Amino acid sequence: MSGFVESRDMHLIASKTSLQSFMNFFQADEYGHRASIEQGDLGYGWMHYSLIRLLKPKKVLCVGSRHGYIPAILAQACKDNGLGHVYFVDAGFGDESDAHWTGVGYWRTDEGKNVFYHAGLELWITLCVTTTKEFAEAHPEERYDYIYIDGDHSFKGAKLDFDLFWPQLNEYGFIGFHDVSVKGTLPEGEYGVHKVWERIKKKYPTTLEFPFMGSGLGIAQKRPAKG
Ligand SMILES: C[S@@+](CC[C@H](N)C(=O)[O-])C[C@H]1O[C@@H](n2cnc3c(N)ncnc32)[C@H](O)[C@@H]1O
Repeated sequence: MSGFVESRDMHLIASKTSLQSFMNFFQADEYGHRASIEQGDLGYGWMHYSLIRLLKPKKVLCVGSRHGYIPAILAQACKDNGLGHVYFVDAGFGDESDAHWTGVGYWRTDEGKNVFYHAGLELWITLCVTTTKEFAEAHPEERYDYIYIDGDHSFKGAKLDFDLFWPQLNEYGFIGFHDVSVKGTLPEGEYGVHKVWERIKKKYPTTLEFPFMGSGLGIAQKRPAKG
């Protein structure tokens, strides 16, 4: 059964200045998400925002963010729907860890822990400072309608996240991966999301892909099994 429901209680976050202040507040990454604060352009944020507004999911899972830009977009979309909740999982890794993947330890600071409250989003998002493995083990029965993964970018880590959460995605739900176009080794490690994404595309062909923009965004839909 899909968790999507109808809701007609809608609002808009559409003025340039409100978009700019939202993006500034969450220190939107201009390259990685193809966003422009100067132009009030949400970049990939448009895709996440509009899918949440359209689908009206009850439960959203978001993994990984430096300062909360995409988790906040997801929560804002739920708020504008008047429906849904985002579970945001980030281990809060920074320099001290080999697995920070450009994380800055923000989610372990008081500022990070309170940032959604200060943006008026606290009813729509829960921050869980833990690893995805620990989170999935603690909530094995949970089901989500929309999942976005931007955590451990190694092949092993991205595959683990897919294996952990694909079974927890409802039929017709969507799973998105950031950085599907990034290849090779950067100071933070060898990127392997693209290899996981290639496998997903072959096995689950209902996909949307934006490999030609920034770091690349891939989104796959879980369709009911045939037969
Ligand atoms: C900072 S994001 C990558 C940057 C992101 N592309 C952005 O635009 O904000 C990566 C995050 O994944 C988190 N992370 C890495 N491995 C994780 C794991 N196994 N479980 C949960 N979070 C993890 C890190 O703490 C880090 O904050």
